[in-house]
Amino acid sequence: MYVIKVPLGVRSYTISIGNQLLARLGQECKRLYLGQHCAVITDRNVAARYGEVAVESLKACGFEPTLITVPAGETAKSLKMVASCYDQLAEHRLERKSFVVALGGGVVGDLAGFVAATYSRGIDFVQVPTTLLAQVDSSVGGKVGINLKAGKNLVGAFYQPRFVLCDLDTLETLPVREYRAGLAEIIKYGIIHDVELFKRLEQAMPKLLQRDPDTLSSVVARCCQIKAGVVGQDETESGLRAILNFGHTIGHALEAVSGYGKLLHGEAIAIGQVFAARLSAELLGFPARDVERVAAVFEKVGLPTHIKLNPAQREKLFEAMRHDKKVSEGVIRFVLVNKIGQVSFGQAVPLDLVEKVLAAPPVQAASTEQSAGANAAHSVLRAPHSAF
Ligand code: NAD
Ligand code: GLY
Repeated sequence: MYVIKVPLGVRSYTISIGNQLLARLGQECKRLYLGQHCAVITDRNVAARYGEVAVESLKACGFEPTLITVPAGETAKSLKMVASCYDQLAEHRLERKSFVVALGGGVVGDLAGFVAATYSRGIDFVQVPTTLLAQVDSSVGGKVGINLKAGKNLVGAFYQPRFVLCDLDTLETLPVREYRAGLAEIIKYGIIHDVELFKRLEQAMPKLLQRDPDTLSSVVARCCQIKAGVVGQDETESGLRAILNFGHTIGHALEAVSGYGKLLHGEAIAIGQVFAARLSAELLGFPARDVERVAAVFEKVGLPTHIKLNPAQREKLFEAMRHDKKVSEGVIRFVLVNKIGQVSFGQAVPLDLVEKVLAAPPVQAASTEQSAGANAAHSVLRAPHSAF
């Protein structure tokens, strides 16, 4: 098992990564002397598979859990669902010493974390991420929130969990499209911070796609270590933490414009990262060969690397970016890559360059013998990515 510390002074916590951890949820909560009453907030898919194990583990350690189930998918990150959770917490008499367990993917983590941050002016919560994306990214760092029609995550808070429990066994039931979407965040860590991780992903992607336990645990741990380091230096994103948004400026706008849920977050940011790499080539001299390597690694996974937009769709995308909180005073700021493993945040990009790159044909990914995912990428592109 890997145990990684997120160093935040009195709000420090650990991320445990390993197998058969879900059944230890109760013990972990007991170790931290969490209150007796708790709510396990989860979604319908996860409840059916892991709800009982989580609840029984808590009961066995003397806790009194209530299971709250929300619909699966991005649309659950809504004010309506927050209100429904508040009502259920109140109905079951959860009070200030009670706590929330977020059992599920990033949607559940963001929603349940926001509920915990605001119910009774803030109660404890723990993250039990069950998607790859949530294990390497969303469960760590305390960003919680919900969406508005105007944009992703427009209402939220920084609110750290008391601990994070990543049971890799839960990934066995994760649908392949969701698993691939999680790999988009893993690739991001290589590009923004760790060239060795990136090179490893270029080589070891087939093993990761097979969910090989050793490869998976070490890669998840490395990503959590990188995220913990960044968050430890800049918890509330006054600077450095922005590097974690590599690929997200276009990615979030694509999610909003296509209608939440049609394009998975990981798919949107795969397109966004290749787009940011292309902007980096134009503005920072990022080598064309490395743009191709970036595109190739996403293609190996079977993720989309490009989206074709007509002028009306491009205008909608710009509108969504204007609403995005990363856009200020009419300037679109991007995280750009200087070289693989090193990025610069807060880079102002002229709108006409964004337009030009959006209108450009797809990158011809560097050819590799392992690009088996490329066809899958194109089929994903044809289906949901034309769904504006
Ligand atoms: P998700 O939470 O929607 O989960 C994806 C799907 O997988 C859902 O249908 C879910 O029911 C199902 N599922 C989850 N675990 C499963 C399992 N073990 N077996 C079978 N099915 C399972 O999606 P996600 O990709 O985990 O998260 C995306 C969300 O995370 C987005 O809203 C994004 O904005 C957010 N996010 C937040 C942060 C952050 O720092 N807070 C970072 C990145 C992404
Ligand atoms: N996923 C972006 C962040 O946590 O800051």
